[in-house]
Amino acid sequence: MAKIIDGKQTAADIRREIAEEVETIKAKAGRAPGLAVILVGDDPASQVYVRNKAKDCEETGIYSVVERLPAETTEEELIALVKKLNGDELIDGIIVQLPLPKHLNSEVIINNIAVDKDVDAFHPYNVGKIMIGDYNMLPCTPAGVMELLSRYGVEVSGKNCVVVGRSNIVGKPQAMLLLHKNGTVTVCHSRTKELAEVTKKADILVVAVGKAKMITGDMIKEGSVVIDVGMNRDADGKLCGDCDFDSCEKKASLITPVPGGVGPMTRVMLLKNTLSAAKRKLNI
Ligand code: GUN
Repeated sequence: MAKIIDGKQTAADIRREIAEEVETIKAKAGRAPGLAVILVGDDPASQVYVRNKAKDCEETGIYSVVERLPAETTEEELIALVKKLNGDELIDGIIVQLPLPKHLNSEVIINNIAVDKDVDAFHPYNVGKIMIGDYNMLPCTPAGVMELLSRYGVEVSGKNCVVVGRSNIVGKPQAMLLLHKNGTVTVCHSRTKELAEVTKKADILVVAVGKAKMITGDMIKEGSVVIDVGMNRDADGKLCGDCDFDSCEKKASLITPVPGGVGPMTRVMLLKNTLSAAKRKLNI
């Protein structure tokens, strides 16, 4: 039976560490780190995410601003707001909540965020920095996964690491971060042949595909570390990951649950990026 990785507790520990650092910054610089979140339109899931981000900031003492814009906002109006925040001395991090309404091109908008305030690490400059291993900003989910591995004492160097999923936000940067830690990394995706043959070789398996319970216990290696980035609903409407927890738990040595695994870590890594952006700006 696997030991369960407690992402909720780990994230709470990190929030406490961040709150302490925020106090130090306030004492030294006379202001808290600041995060601006832009929400365009009224997507219900985005509303919840944005509310949670503001709540996390409040808990850790980070100053936050939520800019709510109507769904009909034009590209010019949104870019004008991003540019205003780029120049705002009290703001260290900017995120534009995705998805945007269909008439807005998220790539164009993200390209306008100042690279040193891009706390999602979605700007092509920051994406490129990740590739060469010289980075200030890390995308929140892969960074949260690395933090869990580190805090649970999982050595990556020399291990077979398999990432299932190749999105720009999770799969690709996750593969790079594991590679930078000297893992032997394989990336699988929808065209991968004999997926189970690859996943069965993984000492560390990270799954980020968005398909409920697609990785089952017979597809993993005995004693492996299983990190489930998925967030889906099963046939009964219950939250579940991309891994079938019950069968994987029997074989893995360590496994993340859904909910309570990677999700809370993604949230807290945004705060960590905001804190480090502030420290760089304030020379602390
Ligand atoms: N929507 C869902 N997840 C994210 C995220 O990590 N960043 C942004 N900007 N929007 C999201």
